Amino acid sequence: MQISTNYNIKNDELKGKIILVTGANRGFGRAITLDLAKAGATVIMLGRDLGALEVVYDEVVDAGFAQPILYPLDLEGATPEHYQQLQEELSDQFGALDGLIHNAGILGTMMPIEQYDIKLWHSVMQINLNAAFMLTRALISVLNKAVAARVLFLSSSVGRSAKAYWGAYGVSKFALEGLSKTLAEELEATNISVNSLDPGSMRTEMLRAAYPAKNTDKIPLPESKSPAIVYLFTDDSKGINGEKLSLF
Ligand SMILES: NC(=O)c1ccc[n+]([C@@H]2O[C@H](COP(=O)([O-])OP(=O)(O)OC[C@H]3O[C@@H](n4cnc5c(N)ncnc54)[C@H](OP(=O)(O)O)[C@@H]3O)[C@@H](O)[C@H]2O)c1
Repeated sequence: MQISTNYNIKNDELKGKIILVTGANRGFGRAITLDLAKAGATVIMLGRDLGALEVVYDEVVDAGFAQPILYPLDLEGATPEHYQQLQEELSDQFGALDGLIHNAGILGTMMPIEQYDIKLWHSVMQINLNAAFMLTRALISVLNKAVAARVLFLSSSVGRSAKAYWGAYGVSKFALEGLSKTLAEELEATNISVNSLDPGSMRTEMLRAAYPAKNTDKIPLPESKSPAIVYLFTDDSKGINGEKLSLF
């Protein structure tokens, strides 16, 4: 299913909504954070670098948008206990969680499977897939308490159609697509909707790492795509569930 990036964010349309974004400190996560906060949502900004999270926090507050909450956590080292603690803190502070956006990820390396570094493979799987599984698993109970909660997994074209040398990254995105669909089926009769999204190319550090020799000047900035994410958390997108989304 394709959705438009051409969405006009209305002030306060997400007022009172609590939405957690992983990898909120730069790239697409930063753009998503700014736009969700612009729409009035309280964004729980999860990231491993507190200083970098604080920079975006200041940007949000200086713009006059809804004040976010910082949640420093390294998804590579996080254990089930860390996710349990997050669940308890969310439950105590807000009672319910309206949205969960699995945006954080690492590229790993572009390499034939035969030569792929095994330690790096595990790191990519831990951050891109296992962390998303553990985080979701821990937070279903607080998502269940929201009137209409949404979970979004950031995928990629190489997680829908295999491409040589994308290694652990592509495989982790295929697995995320499976996780998204399985979860959507399991939660079909609940208030929680679950989708995956391939955002297409965006001019971020990840893109530059994937295509070091490419001139990326004409590739769209993440800010041009983040309004579509706001749309996915508004009432206007009600009923979108179990979809593999992409943007136009
Ligand atoms: N850019 C594209 O063209 C493109 C295309 C298709 C899909 N996507 C997907 O879109 C999402 C965002 O991509 P992006 O381009 O914005 O990537 P990016 O610029 O590389 O940003 C990745 C984010 O993930 C965070 N992260 C990485 N490892 C982490 C860890 N161990 N714990 C916590 N946070 C961690 C990074 O934090 P640090 O600053 O601490 O490293 C950063 O905030 C990803 O899921 C990516 O796969 C991107």
